[in-house]
Amino acid sequence: MPPTIVLLLLSFSLIATSKPTTFRQHLSTDTDTTTTTNTIPPTTYFEVTKPIQLPNTKPCSTLVLHHNFAYTYGSPPVSAQYTPPSNCPSNNPAKIVLEWSATCKGRQFDRIFGVWLGGVELLRSCTAEPRATGIEWTVKKDITRYYPLLIANQTLSVYLGNIVDATYTGVYHVNISIHFYPAENKKITKMPLHSEQLNNQWADLIIPISRNLPLNDGLWFEIQNSTDFKLKQFRIPQNAYRAVLEVYVSFHENDEFWPTNVPNEYVLDNNLTGYPGNGPFREVVVSLDGGVVGAVWPFTVVYTGGVNPLLWRPISGIGSFDLPTYDIEITPFLGTVLDGKSHDFGFSVTNALNVWYIDANLHVWLDEKSDKTNGKLLTQNISPLHVSLVSNYTGLNGTFVTKVTRSIKSTGWVQASHGKIVTESTQEFNYSNIMVMAENGDSQIVNQMIEFNDSVYAKKPASVLSKESLKLFSFYIYSDTEDKGNGSYAEVANITLGFNEKKVVNLGSKSSSSVLQNLQNGQGSMLVKGNLVVSGLGSTQQMYNYGDDEFCYFRDVSSWNYTIIYDKEGHTCSKSKNSRFVIGKPLPLTARDRHAI
Ligand SMILES: *[C@@H]1O[C@H](CO)[C@@H](O)[C@H](O)[C@H]1NC(C)=O
Ligand SMILES: *[C@@H]1O[C@H](CO)[C@@H](O)[C@H](O)[C@H]1NC(C)=O
Ligand SMILES: *[C@@H]1O[C@H](CO)[C@@H](O)[C@H](O)[C@H]1NC(C)=O
Ligand SMILES: *[C@@H]1O[C@H](CO)[C@@H](O)[C@H](O)[C@H]1NC(C)=O
Ligand SMILES: *[C@@H]1O[C@H](CO)[C@@H](O)[C@H](O)[C@H]1NC(C)=O
Ligand SMILES: *[C@@H]1O[C@H](CO)[C@@H](O)[C@H](O)[C@H]1NC(C)=O
Ligand SMILES: *[C@@H]1O[C@H](CO)[C@@H](O)[C@H](O)[C@H]1NC(C)=O
Ligand SMILES: *[C@@H]1O[C@H](CO)[C@@H](O)[C@H](O)[C@H]1NC(C)=O
Ligand SMILES: *[C@@H]1O[C@H](CO)[C@@H](O)[C@H](O)[C@H]1NC(C)=O
Ligand SMILES: *[C@@H]1O[C@H](CO)[C@@H](O)[C@H](O)[C@H]1NC(C)=O
Ligand SMILES: *[C@@H]1O[C@H](CO)[C@@H](O)[C@H](O)[C@H]1NC(C)=O
Repeated sequence: MPPTIVLLLLSFSLIATSKPTTFRQHLSTDTDTTTTTNTIPPTTYFEVTKPIQLPNTKPCSTLVLHHNFAYTYGSPPVSAQYTPPSNCPSNNPAKIVLEWSATCKGRQFDRIFGVWLGGVELLRSCTAEPRATGIEWTVKKDITRYYPLLIANQTLSVYLGNIVDATYTGVYHVNISIHFYPAENKKITKMPLHSEQLNNQWADLIIPISRNLPLNDGLWFEIQNSTDFKLKQFRIPQNAYRAVLEVYVSFHENDEFWPTNVPNEYVLDNNLTGYPGNGPFREVVVSLDGGVVGAVWPFTVVYTGGVNPLLWRPISGIGSFDLPTYDIEITPFLGTVLDGKSHDFGFSVTNALNVWYIDANLHVWLDEKSDKTNGKLLTQNISPLHVSLVSNYTGLNGTFVTKVTRSIKSTGWVQASHGKIVTESTQEFNYSNIMVMAENGDSQIVNQMIEFNDSVYAKKPASVLSKESLKLFSFYIYSDTEDKGNGSYAEVANITLGFNEKKVVNLGSKSSSSVLQNLQNGQGSMLVKGNLVVSGLGSTQQMYNYGDDEFCYFRDVSSWNYTIIYDKEGHTCSKSKNSRFVIGKPLPLTARDRHAI
């Protein structure tokens, strides 16, 4: 029996015994299978995001992979030799873009996949779920920061674990291309080194913190439970003066909808054996040689089959086609790894249930004027996780309020040819989750908010450079399930996802800022039998608003039953007009939540 089928049966049996929230189930759709015809054009799915700002130059493009992903589950990643384009007029690209384009037809689940170059992850994503009449979608990602990798021969690896059988027929046809856009102005204006401390577009070296090939899976580490800990050894050149760890994270199976996981007491008291528990709080902890260096409280990406697959057609969930990554400043710790010896990064996930896919890329800047830099960690303050849980429940009804805060602050200096710089890196987190279970567990409401602030200060005696990122992730779900007997159920679900980020960079002479407000609302209803949605309706509205000093973009788009019913796009800057969603301000609670608290 193929491995995923076992998983499906397992998840089905969980559903069968557990009362609340059937939306956890992996679903694909069974709609319009009878209308298969070649005359209907494929539906184009998309994730709303701002266009990549490109120079007005002709790109040199290279098709790096063409592959049909049929039965690929548990096989080695598909690999290809990558050679940088040789006919490029300039080796000074202003932008480098990865383009994933794919088509699929039939019935299939949402599949997570990763793209790696030389073991460095370039893209974590989820496939769109096909329909009988076919779909297509494209993901474009700015990969300019991976420049040092892209100018050398490398092995490209793509793992997309797909299963094809009589029921799940969708084969993913995929092309991956890389486009190099030369700069308009050939003059390279190199910034003074000190400014590069915080503002360099790309590092000199990128070290993969992922699993080594060969293997029969993705290159990510798999974190199976709350005590699981995975580590990877690395070594860096002794003339490094800055390092940033870019972390890739995705969550699956029992933790796919972690914000909705109930506390273990609730599971035990109600005999919900095997039901996803451990409560709704998760934290990815990153350590260096055993000591904590930072954390990630991730955005709650909902994959294309999640909650109700009909919600994500054709507008995909925020982050689902290009999962967000999280940068942790490692510079304060550089002094501890400049000895030329090997060290290790470790990953764990607080409260994890099976399974989290995590890996990272270490971006390292080198001092070209010196063979050896040195440094020292000065102070580190890690506040313990402060967790408060208030709950009341009688049987399957009740309310749980979980609040967590944490801060991690590290200071260290590095002495390089451009002087001695003290770097102070701070992460501040705030989390709240209000969960209401009603109707004997058939109804669940979750309202979750994560504040995730990062700041980095690079101090010289006479100047301070700074970089701040303030993030607010919101997640709201209302779901109501009704057992229809005979292994089928009806579900109504409303969802809100919000991803807001404000960035401020101050380089003394120059400062810049950007604001992103990205909000999605969806309403869905469906009838499910087994793992298939047999009928239903989904509608989604999204408001995307981005502005920085040079560029603004907004899109207001909505869909209903696979069709775009409203779409307005523009480049005018509206200085945070929709005040409903301002950084630092939580989503207003709905009347129903207020009633519940
Ligand atoms: C992939 O590229 C080939 C050759 O250019 C083209 O025929 C095919 O339609 C492309 N497929 C996708 C999914 O973009
Ligand atoms: C990269 O690969 C190309 C094509 O296989 C080969 O011609 C070239 O010599 C390689 N370059 C390096 C630096 O190995
Ligand atoms: C956690 O996962 C690891 C790795 O799979 C396993 O070795 C360990 O036994 C698990 N621990 C518990 C408590 O299940
Ligand atoms: C859970 O199971 C135990 C033993 O089977 C039983 O005594 C108890 O009443 C059950 N609790 C609930 C809430 O059903
Ligand atoms: C739990 O507390 C909330 C508010 O305090 C209340 O509305 C709700 O009825 C309580 N639930 C149960 C099961 O007692
Ligand atoms: C994050 O920054 C915002 C804006 O300054 C502030 O309102 C919020 O309290 C900060 N959150 C935390 C956890 O520090
Ligand atoms: C965290 O958020 C709560 C509101 O949920 C607020 O009262 C508290 O001040 C915040 N804490 C920090 C450190 O921002
Ligand atoms: C749970 O709440 C529902 C109404 O939402 C009520 O009908 C049911 O009796 C309650 N169950 C318990 C055990 O209190
Ligand atoms: C239950 O399912 C079986 C097999 O799919 C079908 O024969 C039967 O009519 C169904 N019963 C009801 C009440 O829907
Ligand atoms: C869910 O969405 C529907 C349609 O917009 C709305 O009528 C209903 O009130 C919503 N329910 C909740 C609990 O948010
Ligand atoms: C939704 O669209 C499908 C075709 O894609 C159509 O068969 C169905 O009737 C539509 N549903 C509604 C409620 O209009």
